[in-house]
Amino acid sequence: MPDRPASGARPVVRRDDGRARVFLARPIPDQLMRRIAEVAHVEVHEGSDPPSARELAVRCRDVDGLLATSADRVDEALLEACPDLAVVSNLAVGYDNVDVPAMTRRGVPVGNTPGVLTEATADLAFALVLVTARRVVEARDAVLAGRWKGWDPGFMLGMELAGSTIGILGAGRIGQAVARRALAFQMGVLAWSRSGATALAPGLEAVERVGFDELFERSDVVSIHVSLAPETVHLVGARELALMKAGALLVNTARGPVVDQAALTDALRSGSLGGAGLDVVEVEPIPLDDPLLGLANCVVLPHVGSATTATRTAMASLAVDNLLAGLRGEVLPACVNPEVYTSAS
Ligand code: DGY
Repeated sequence: MPDRPASGARPVVRRDDGRARVFLARPIPDQLMRRIAEVAHVEVHEGSDPPSARELAVRCRDVDGLLATSADRVDEALLEACPDLAVVSNLAVGYDNVDVPAMTRRGVPVGNTPGVLTEATADLAFALVLVTARRVVEARDAVLAGRWKGWDPGFMLGMELAGSTIGILGAGRIGQAVARRALAFQMGVLAWSRSGATALAPGLEAVERVGFDELFERSDVVSIHVSLAPETVHLVGARELALMKAGALLVNTARGPVVDQAALTDALRSGSLGGAGLDVVEVEPIPLDDPLLGLANCVVLPHVGSATTATRTAMASLAVDNLLAGLRGEVLPACVNPEVYTSAS
């Protein structure tokens, strides 16, 4: 018999032995795997490469729950192939990999992992601010290439953070956590958010809210923290880069497609932009012949913003909470489409 779901959501089909079936698109810590195995049959895609779209469709064919990552496309085609799917738990705060309207139409709740990765991601964003401002990777490369000839007063000069201005594009949780770090480094902090209304947390009274163009015009460093949505694809393009001060820096730890990468490459090549620190790019993993990788003033990291042991464990734990709640037919603790519980499926 199907479990009685929270109103509107699709019911979970129990197997003969009363247990649901779930597929994990990536391994998670053993103790969390055991929590799922207590109530459901679990299959796991082993390895660090994501499953192909075909493998995902085949292995999810008769599952009730899917634990996916931001590298897995969860769309209408997957739903067609997996008619029993009753809950999708995304092991990420971002959910641009999931066609949420399609899930909602079919009564499938989607979970994500907000809050638990804020500090780790803000740490990495600020690390990229420091690395680009002080040319850390270039300096290290100079040592390895034998270009360190002795103490030279003009060698590897960078940007002084104290007294410089950072613009936070997207003043949500992570953006505000970066603002806190910047204030501690005695930077001026400007912020813009899409809603315009996001309240700033106590301690951020010194942050100045500005308009979109003004943020680019006045910042020495722009750090991107907006989520990826149709309205934010190429939000930062040639026009915005041209508004920036000569030699300014751009940091992106949000999603690659928010930045027009061709325009960014041009701005870095011409030197109008001083440097870029990117934890995310338009195509991940970045092809090794991408011109960005040949630019000394660009540092590319492999999407590791939340990659600390503590944070990844906390993310997996919340993702399991979401998954198990969905299997029980309960409202997910962190649900991105709560309307699924009120709309008819
Ligand atoms: C997130 O949680 O959204 C991270 O970027 C991993 O995808």
